[in-house]
Amino acid sequence: MGWWVYILRCGDGTLYTGSTSDVERRAAAHAGGRGAKYTRGRGPIAVVYREECPDKGAALRREAAIKKLKRPDKLNLIAAYAERRRNMKKAAFIGTGNMGAPLVGAACKALGAEQVVITNRTRAKAEALAERLGCAVAEDNRSAAAQAEVVFLCVKPQMLRGVAEELAPVLGAGQTVVSIAAGLTLETIRGWLAGAEEPPALVRIMPNTPAAIGRGMLALSAEAGTPEARIQAVEAMLAPAGLVERIAEGQMDAFSAVAGCGPAFVYPFIEALADGGVLVGLPRGQAMTYAAQMVLGAAAMVLESGKHPGQLKDEVCSPGGSTIAGVAALEQNGFRSAAIQAVQAAYHRNQELGKV
Ligand SMILES: NC(=O)c1ccc[n+]([C@@H]2O[C@H](COP(=O)([O-])OP(=O)(O)OC[C@H]3O[C@@H](n4cnc5c(N)ncnc54)[C@H](OP(=O)(O)O)[C@@H]3O)[C@@H](O)[C@H]2O)c1
Repeated sequence: MGWWVYILRCGDGTLYTGSTSDVERRAAAHAGGRGAKYTRGRGPIAVVYREECPDKGAALRREAAIKKLKRPDKLNLIAAYAERRRNMKKAAFIGTGNMGAPLVGAACKALGAEQVVITNRTRAKAEALAERLGCAVAEDNRSAAAQAEVVFLCVKPQMLRGVAEELAPVLGAGQTVVSIAAGLTLETIRGWLAGAEEPPALVRIMPNTPAAIGRGMLALSAEAGTPEARIQAVEAMLAPAGLVERIAEGQMDAFSAVAGCGPAFVYPFIEALADGGVLVGLPRGQAMTYAAQMVLGAAAMVLESGKHPGQLKDEVCSPGGSTIAGVAALEQNGFRSAAIQAVQAAYHRNQELGKV
């Protein structure tokens, strides 16, 4: 859990410095007359400065240092904090490609587009997205990262090292970095962020492209010791993209092989079903709609009925009927084995990509 140093402005204009693990709760205590003896009877109370520290010891040292400051220096600290807050956005996205762009859309929905800033190597791409969503485009990667509480790194895995090392000097302890790169571990990325003076929190997610329409399946792993509030803030930003689940980092490559790569295994299946439909006389457009809607419905049956897919399959197959004839044809052609091998191959490739 993180620790905070805070400064309160009391109703009579005096300043009170304290430290806590939960600023909101402590501020409510001061405001309700249950805080420090000093603040009692001096309400109303406003939190005018807060600074996150890695642990209690660091917070106590910082509290003592701030208490030693003269009042004008404390006021300068408060003014600089207010200025930073005025300019600070909630989220920055570095890279607005196939996967970054849907996540920008989700964050704009969750936070309001005015809280989101983006950059992309080809600036025109970021500008077109910003035009559509209403968010801002930053001058460059560093200025985007410096002005956001949560910084999403949405470049290809092989570009991540360069981007992380470029951004490290402008990142601070109050920020959270989120990598969406397949294969790259938190430990590896943490090493690339070593240039940060005060290390930011670090989270890794694995989204998939249906996030673009709010039907994504996303996994999240955070470094041990990441404050719960930081993780929840990232989850809230991603919620409009779909279902977000926390998993152990060791499962990330496996998750990615199923859910990250999975859409590319399902699209050819839908296309092939439609080809079959055309072969037996359906117009192409209709065949595609029927196949896609059927896959959508079947997936919803698995999720909503709670039944095993084998049982749902059995419920469609009547003895000597047409469905079981089709199932037998799939089995003869190694359908299930092909799907299993697709996931396994993707998993191994994820592991290879993670070896940097
Ligand atoms: N695609 C998926 O289904 C999927 C699923 C899960 C996770 N991911 C992860 O998502 C990440 C991005 O993949 P993607 O498919 O979105 O790739 P992509 O479409 O190529 O997007 C990457 C974007 O990053 C930009 N970029 C490259 N270097 C940059 C830099 N130095 N500064 C700023 N922007 C830079 C590129 O700009 P340009 O316009 O100049 O090329 C491009 O728009 C990868 O790490 C991947 O592992 C992807």
